Amino acid sequence: MPTPTSDSVNRRKFLQFLAASPLFAYAGAGGVALASRSRAWSAENLAPPGALLPSAADAFNVFDLEAVARTKIPVAHLAYLDTGVEGDVTVRANREGFAKIQLRPRRLVDTTRLDTSVKLFDTTWPTPIIIAPVASHCAFHDDGELAVARAARARNHLQCLSTWCTTSVEDVTSARGAPVWFQLYATTQWEITRALVQRAEAAGCPVVALTIDNPTNIGRETLERGKRRDPRDCTECHSPRAGGIFKRKSMFEGLDVSGLVGPLTPHLTWDFVKRLQDTTKMKVVLKGIVTAEDATLALQHQVAGIVVSNHGGRGEESGRSTIESLPEVVAAVGGKIPVLVDGGFRRGTDIFKALALGANAVCVGRPYIWGLGAYGQPGVERCLEILTVELEVAMRHMGTPTLASITRSSVQRA
Ligand code: FNR
Ligand code: LAC
Repeated sequence: MPTPTSDSVNRRKFLQFLAASPLFAYAGAGGVALASRSRAWSAENLAPPGALLPSAADAFNVFDLEAVARTKIPVAHLAYLDTGVEGDVTVRANREGFAKIQLRPRRLVDTTRLDTSVKLFDTTWPTPIIIAPVASHCAFHDDGELAVARAARARNHLQCLSTWCTTSVEDVTSARGAPVWFQLYATTQWEITRALVQRAEAAGCPVVALTIDNPTNIGRETLERGKRRDPRDCTECHSPRAGGIFKRKSMFEGLDVSGLVGPLTPHLTWDFVKRLQDTTKMKVVLKGIVTAEDATLALQHQVAGIVVSNHGGRGEESGRSTIESLPEVVAAVGGKIPVLVDGGFRRGTDIFKALALGANAVCVGRPYIWGLGAYGQPGVERCLEILTVELEVAMRHMGTPTLASITRSSVQRA
């Protein structure tokens, strides 16, 4: 048994004090401060207030990073990060879905050495944990996408960059030291969309992930409430003039955006997928498939890969988690193309469950942004380290030393 260090003893004493206090209990996943003593001992939810974690290394889990981020990110930007749509039912569903799946550990398997590597198209990655595209990293930390790229480089994770990035694909690629995937929001003007695609391709991106689950972003109530509570003058970054939403969005610099009505694309159909494929040599992946029917259509349209996603609960208010959508997509795809998944992944066991249900890899969104907002690059690195270690722990407990050995028999429905 390791001897407790004075740090860990002090921390334990503090947590005991915290648990005994009727004044403070912290609910990590939703970030809601609860005045309920009975909730205080929920292990996942109990996180110390941010000020008590002087460095990223002090975070035990991604919820600790969230707690710190909540003390640092301005309220409107926090609301943007948190928001789902309407009642945020799908945001919660993404988390609750994991509780409906249990693990079936196998004993007496040698897991001294683990292999978490996964091949996606032409590249083998040491880990199946991917950095999901999230817009406007500079809203969460001044170092923005560059900090994330440097963290991805330090720990060698695949990074997917948002169209709505606040640092250009060239600068991010350079900081990453390797190509990144480019997430595409098609615009309302083909010429602009094509310019974005050509720029990403010229920067060396091997894959374009077309987001198809966000035809409208009306109904983000949590975001709107947060904006009302933020007293800052936002016009420097969010210009109220026409085209203002493109301000500080690096990928749109030099493009004439005066005719664009915004990022929303209710007009997209499968014809657009074909047009995109005909326009670029990058592999076209669809981000936002959640049904077997659309997975089958994706195969028919020679799509290179699928991300099972409901946009972190920010797209449709379906109430259905992605971990529950995954099996039908996997079955329809039948191993012909890679299937990635995202939405609510916060623990190594969550990642393990997705791999067991047939995902090739898992993308994380909000957790690395918590790391970014909390500590910049070291926070993103710590987030990736935590999830990696937790996945490895799960693999050891489950007697699965390689990703290939994680199969459907590793899980059951609760
Ligand atoms: C996103 N997501 C997203 N997706 C995308 O294709 N392009 C984008 O620009 C963004 N921007 C974005 C901003 C913020 C603040 C969030 C939280 C999410 C969705 C993202 O890629 C991913 O699907 C979800 O974040 C996954 O869910 P979790 O891990 O955040 O629960
Ligand atoms: C969002 C968009 C930018 O979810 O993807 O905010």
